[in-house]
Amino acid sequence: MANVDYKAAYERQKKAREIAEDLLENRSRELYEANKSLQYAYNKLKGQKEKIVHQEKLASLGQLCAGLAHEINNPAGYIKSNLNTLRNYSEELTVFFKVLDDILSAHKIDNIQVPIVELIEIIQTLRKDCEVNYLLDDIKSIASESREGISRIESIVKGLRDFSRPDEAEPDILDVVQCIENTLSLVKMKIKDKLYVCYDYADPLYVKGQQGSLSQVFLNLIINALHAVGDNGRLIIKAKKETEFAVISFIDNGCGMGSDVCEKIFEPFFTTKKNGQGTGLGLSISHGIIKTHGGLLSVESVEGQGTCFIVKLPLSEADD
Ligand SMILES: Nc1ncnc2c1ncn2[C@@H]1O[C@H](COP(=O)(O)OP(=O)(O)O)[C@@H](O)[C@H]1O
Ligand SMILES: [Mg+2]
Repeated sequence: MANVDYKAAYERQKKAREIAEDLLENRSRELYEANKSLQYAYNKLKGQKEKIVHQEKLASLGQLCAGLAHEINNPAGYIKSNLNTLRNYSEELTVFFKVLDDILSAHKIDNIQVPIVELIEIIQTLRKDCEVNYLLDDIKSIASESREGISRIESIVKGLRDFSRPDEAEPDILDVVQCIENTLSLVKMKIKDKLYVCYDYADPLYVKGQQGSLSQVFLNLIINALHAVGDNGRLIIKAKKETEFAVISFIDNGCGMGSDVCEKIFEPFFTTKKNGQGTGLGLSISHGIIKTHGGLLSVESVEGQGTCFIVKLPLSEADD
């Protein structure tokens, strides 16, 4: 009898264990499936976030396009005209040297004996008639004007290249002051006459980061300042070292914000601007970018007086 009880108890236990094992296996499978779909949803969300960041970048670049085209077209125009002038000058100088050659050959080959003093006088008159001095002076200034135009185009291209650096690229050690300068060369035309920018920085400040992303932050802060100011708009950009951090302040004398607005500015899609002027994403994206750089983006604002955005980034050793 006791034997039968043991067997029945054993069978019951075995069955219970099998049921429990099945249950555990089912649960594990369910958990695995749930984890897989969560991972899928996370990747999709991450992809969408990257797409939104990229779209905001393109939207701000779109606002700059007309100004940039003008900024490149203007030096390109005068460099082209300078090249035409140089071609004309070279023709005029060729004539001068040809006549000079003729005079000297006649003197040598035909053995025309003109006294040296007279010969010098003839050459000097020829030089005057051909305006050689004027041509040489003008060539010098044309060259330096063209060089200046090329540098302007170069700085725009550099700004564009920094700005469009892929966000997923390996971080560089970069000079944040130079990054601000490159970003400014992209907005120069847009802010012209509307926002006077004063700089207060001297030494390079090296941080480890993504050129393109930091440039996106600086661009947004500068354009926001432009939108906030009225007549006599002014933006002071200060960059300094503070213990282990590079601290960059953007101080404008624009409309400022009340605390109700100030509380919401880092929320995605919050904007007080009319359609087409803002996506409401600039500051939330900027906040995220600075955070992933191990830094902090903060704001101080007084309604009717102005706003100061402060970017704090951990300093890094310069790359040699
Ligand atoms: N310098 C500033 N002065 C006053 N208000 C600002 C300034 N910068 C941002 N703001 C406020 O924060 C809001 C959100 O800015 P942002 O996220 O860049 O989006 P957007 O510029 O597209 O509106 C702006 O609509 C504006 O109300
Ligand atoms: Mg903005």
